[in-house]
Amino acid sequence: MKQLAYTGLAEWFEYLNDDCGYENWSQYLIGQLRAYSLRDGLDVGCGGGWFTRAFSRAGYRMTGMDISPEMLDFASRKSLQEGVRAEYILGDISAKKPPKRFDFVTAINDCFNYIPKQSLDKALKNVAGALKKGGVFLFDISSPRKFQEKIANTVSADDRDEVTYLSFNRVEEERAIMEVTLFIRRKDGAYDRRDETHIQYIYTEEEMLTALHKNGFTVCAVEGHLGEDKAQSDRLCFLCKKE
Ligand SMILES: C[S@@+](CC[C@H](N)C(=O)[O-])C[C@H]1O[C@@H](n2cnc3c(N)ncnc32)[C@H](O)[C@@H]1O
Repeated sequence: MKQLAYTGLAEWFEYLNDDCGYENWSQYLIGQLRAYSLRDGLDVGCGGGWFTRAFSRAGYRMTGMDISPEMLDFASRKSLQEGVRAEYILGDISAKKPPKRFDFVTAINDCFNYIPKQSLDKALKNVAGALKKGGVFLFDISSPRKFQEKIANTVSADDRDEVTYLSFNRVEEERAIMEVTLFIRRKDGAYDRRDETHIQYIYTEEEMLTALHKNGFTVCAVEGHLGEDKAQSDRLCFLCKKE
C-alpha cells in the first residue's frame, strides 16, 4: 500500500542523504544568517532536524516545523540523543500560520518544491506572518535544470546493509513524481517493504521572485548551492527580508 511522503522514509532520510554534505551546507547557511542580528528561528520542513540542530548549536533558539509526524518523531529523538535544544511543531506551511513570530525562517533542501503551485502564495503569506518586520527568510528549491537533466526519467538507487532505496522518477509538465520503495532489513533477516509517492513542483527563479514580491518580501540575493553560479547549479537559494 502506498503511503504519504516521508512516512517509511522518515527513519532513514538523514542516513540515506548523508552524502549531501550537511556539515558544509549548514555552515554556509549559518554564514548567511550571521550577517544579521537574529535569535529566534523557525526551520520549516525541518524533516529529521539536521539543519535545526546545526542552527541550535550555532546559538540560535530553534523551532522545527514539518508536515510529517514521522519526521518530527525522528527529529525529537535525535535532538534528545545529541543533547541539542529545539522545539518541534507539526504543521503544513501552506495551511496555517505558525503560532508565533520569529526573527528568521529557513526552509532548506526542497521543502518549497513540495508546495503545489496553487498553494505557493498561501505558504509564503504564512512564512511572512511568522516573521517579525525585517525578519529574514532563507530557503532553497531544486532548480528546473536539476529536474530536467538529473531527475526526469531516471531511477535512483542506494543499497546499504540495513536498507535498500529505489526511486522511479518522472517529470510531467510542472511537477516531478518520484515513486519511492524501501526494503528495510528486519532482525530476522527478512525485509519489510514500504512504498511512498513524492510529488515535487518545479519552480523557475522568475516564478519564485514574483511570488516573493507579491507576498511582502524583498529579495536580497539568489545564489546557486553554497554560492555556486545559479545558472549551473542544482539548487536556487533565496535570501529575503520581510518588508
Ligand atoms: C527533502 S526533506 C528535507 C528535510 C530537512 N530539511 C533536511 O534537509 O534534512 C523536505 C521536508 O519538507 C517537509 N514538507 C513538505 N511539505 C511541507 C509543508 N507543506 N509544510 C511543512 N513541511 C513540509 C517534508 O515532510 C520533509 O520533511
